[in-house]
Amino acid sequence: MDFAQINQYLTELTNHPDPLLRRLEEEARQTRFPIIGAAAGRFCYLITRLVKARTVFELGSGFGYSTLWFAKAVRDNGGGKVYHNVWDEGLSRRARQYFAEAGLSDLVEFHVGEAVAALRRAEGPFDVIFNDIDKQGYPASLPVIKEKLKVGGVLIVDNMLWQGRVLDPNDQEPTTQAIRLTTQQIFNDPDFVPTLVPIRDGLVVAMKIDE
Ligand SMILES: C[S@@+](CC[C@H](N)C(=O)[O-])C[C@H]1O[C@@H](n2cnc3c(N)ncnc32)[C@H](O)[C@@H]1O
Repeated sequence: MDFAQINQYLTELTNHPDPLLRRLEEEARQTRFPIIGAAAGRFCYLITRLVKARTVFELGSGFGYSTLWFAKAVRDNGGGKVYHNVWDEGLSRRARQYFAEAGLSDLVEFHVGEAVAALRRAEGPFDVIFNDIDKQGYPASLPVIKEKLKVGGVLIVDNMLWQGRVLDPNDQEPTTQAIRLTTQQIFNDPDFVPTLVPIRDGLVVAMKIDE
């Protein structure tokens, strides 16, 4: 069985009925914007429900697709805040419109700017931190994330398989190297209990167990 087939099967199984999520999926398809997609979105929703998260900090939020999954989970946990961080003004504006339409604006704080700097300034600690920024920024973001994640909280990092490129020893691209380094940093840190879940492009999921 091939990897793409498994992910296609999982995406079909996820088959959620939400019209706004569907609209954003269609928009991403038409504009070729890289969203996490339904299977990874559902997985993020599940983790957020499991840890009963009330606060989620997202780094690299795009036009709000992944944010919408987190916001639904926080709402279903009884309410809280999701922090949407992206440095593109236009994407932030679109996300605000979508959340207003969905009646979920109260659950989200929007910030335009560099996401790691925003996290450094944020009070925290957060129950869930989701990282989807430019991949070369992953290694430097980790100490900040670790500091701002609550003990018992969960870090989720997207694109950790990088379309299989992390497995190719001949691929020495800076992005691939940054992903490999971040994976090693997380897996070698005794304060994290990590795994890599091969949904879509690979999600590293790590619970922080100590400071
Ligand atoms: C992969 S897309 C996000 C997709 C989103 N997580 C989703 O699934 O709906 C990453 C976005 O974050 C922005 N970005 C990348 N690095 C960033 C950084 N360090 N700070 C703020 N925004 C960043 C990119 O310009 C892009 O709009």
